[in-house]
Amino acid sequence: MCGIVGVVSKSKVAHKLIKGLKTLEYRGYDSAGIAILQDGDITILKDKGRIANLEAIINYDSLTGTIGIAHTRWATHGVPSKENAHPHMDQNKHFAVVHNGIIENYLELKDFLENQGFSFSSQTDTEVIPVLMEYYYQKTGNVMDAFKDTLNDLKGSYAILVITPLLPNTILVAKKNSPLVLGIGNNGIYAASDIPAIIEYTKDFYFLQDDEKAVIGDDIVFYDKDFQKTDKESKTIDWEMDAIDKNGFEDYMLKEIHEQPEALKNTLNGIVSLNNPISFVNFSLDKSYLEKLKQIYIVACGTAMHAGLVGKYAIEKICRIPVNVEVASEFRYQDPILDENTLCIFISQSGETADTIAALKLAREKKAKTVAVTNVFESSITREADYTLYTHAGPEIAVASTKAYISQVGLIVALAIYMSEVLDKNTDLCQSLKRDLMNLPDLMNEVISNNQYYQEIAKKMTKEQDLFYIGRGNDYYTALEGSLKLKEISYIHSEAYAAGELKHGPIALIENGTFVVGIVTDPITSEKTLSNLEEVKARGANIILVTNQDIKKDNVIHIPHINSIISPILAIIPLQFIAYFIAKEKGLDVDKPRNLAKSVTVE
Ligand code: F6R
Repeated sequence: MCGIVGVVSKSKVAHKLIKGLKTLEYRGYDSAGIAILQDGDITILKDKGRIANLEAIINYDSLTGTIGIAHTRWATHGVPSKENAHPHMDQNKHFAVVHNGIIENYLELKDFLENQGFSFSSQTDTEVIPVLMEYYYQKTGNVMDAFKDTLNDLKGSYAILVITPLLPNTILVAKKNSPLVLGIGNNGIYAASDIPAIIEYTKDFYFLQDDEKAVIGDDIVFYDKDFQKTDKESKTIDWEMDAIDKNGFEDYMLKEIHEQPEALKNTLNGIVSLNNPISFVNFSLDKSYLEKLKQIYIVACGTAMHAGLVGKYAIEKICRIPVNVEVASEFRYQDPILDENTLCIFISQSGETADTIAALKLAREKKAKTVAVTNVFESSITREADYTLYTHAGPEIAVASTKAYISQVGLIVALAIYMSEVLDKNTDLCQSLKRDLMNLPDLMNEVISNNQYYQEIAKKMTKEQDLFYIGRGNDYYTALEGSLKLKEISYIHSEAYAAGELKHGPIALIENGTFVVGIVTDPITSEKTLSNLEEVKARGANIILVTNQDIKKDNVIHIPHINSIISPILAIIPLQFIAYFIAKEKGLDVDKPRNLAKSVTVE
């Protein structure tokens, strides 16, 4: 969703701000803006639409300021427009603010400020921040007091950067429930909502915790929740620049699909080996705890939830412990039955998804043990969970998740094997699955290498309006994920159905020429799904089949045979490619699909 960049430097900052915003484009946005302090004034430039629109109104030669803040906005309160774009400023032009998050009591604050004679020019919740700062500044005559009093009044979530000519050479920073990192780097001090925006300048980051503040000037001064000065240690993030480059690929999504074997290998490195039981860093579960465990919940959103479904399949098959998989936004309102004998696993690539974090907080209140599975170091979810397991997929930039999904599935399967090993159950199955997991990257490369064939198949489907994906068991979960990928980036409607359910209603929609994608990798259910495919074929459907069986027909995508517990890791790859090629064929922006944001920080 929204992105933030701030720079304090000895040289001009406009280019750096825009470059930082471009790195954050993947988060999804609909307007962009910058504010620069120069010659004792704040200059704000902003516009609706892409960063290119903003750049078109920037004259870099005249923007000589060495302190600035910048923002990409994903509309929540107020339509996407120039007026609603950040930065926002008070009428007296004392305070310019960029903000991620939501000020929940903004209407009440706005009402109060209007009664005090202040006026507003946008529909946003954010605008109350600079106006409130001006109100308190007029009362106290002190910027830091005004900052403190303003933060005291705000309810909700925020990552905030403020610049003011009243404290030149300074950016004021505050964080609550929305990520913010700072770094001291080449020729400047940097602040951003996400590491990629500033990784070019430093690898050592300060991660602000909730309610912490900072003042960036010649150095960074940190303040704790009581506004007392405090020290913070930096943490090194070892990402190379090419991790956030397209590296010769046309799109990030294509690059990330190709990176999947490496992402899985990195995720399981040090965890899975043939001669040792599985072990995790800073995480273990006792045999006595696992024996008492009544149930497991896996809670997540979107693709991460689909990874959770594959996790359910694995844990139930390997450990014989019942698993419920819930969409986070539903779980929260279902009054779930949890206690200390419930293990709750929360999966989130970004670690910032508001619904998943709220669900996690609820599980903790109800005394369940909580484990976060995330790809982003120090993300918000890691601070809420009892334990964190990291996927090491590297930064995922494309909005449509691919390598994070594969890594989540791999990690949850490893967790299932771990629990089974602790329980001394199914030793032979565990051993053979570990072997399979270690062989997977090579098999994935084999599947990836057939991508030209997937492109040919995709070409046949480009003009479709409605598609079906069907499968059973884990193949159904792959169908759900394949269908989501298609919807997200190609804007083609599709439905994923459990193959056996088709005849209970949706088969009525099958007509001559309807495409049905069948996934058939589980030998136990393959005959049944193949029969369901025959049923739709008899009604005129065009079948695309993804299978590890020896079937010789047109439009069959063969993938290598592997245990059905982990077959989704192979079966999803052709479906990712098909979605990608269809979107490309339609001339769409695959990395930044309309209306979507990479990290969904609103509920
Ligand atoms: C789909 C996709 C989304 C995310 C979902 C959860 O390709 O990326 O469905 O999976 O928004 O996001 P995280 O995993 O960051 O919690």
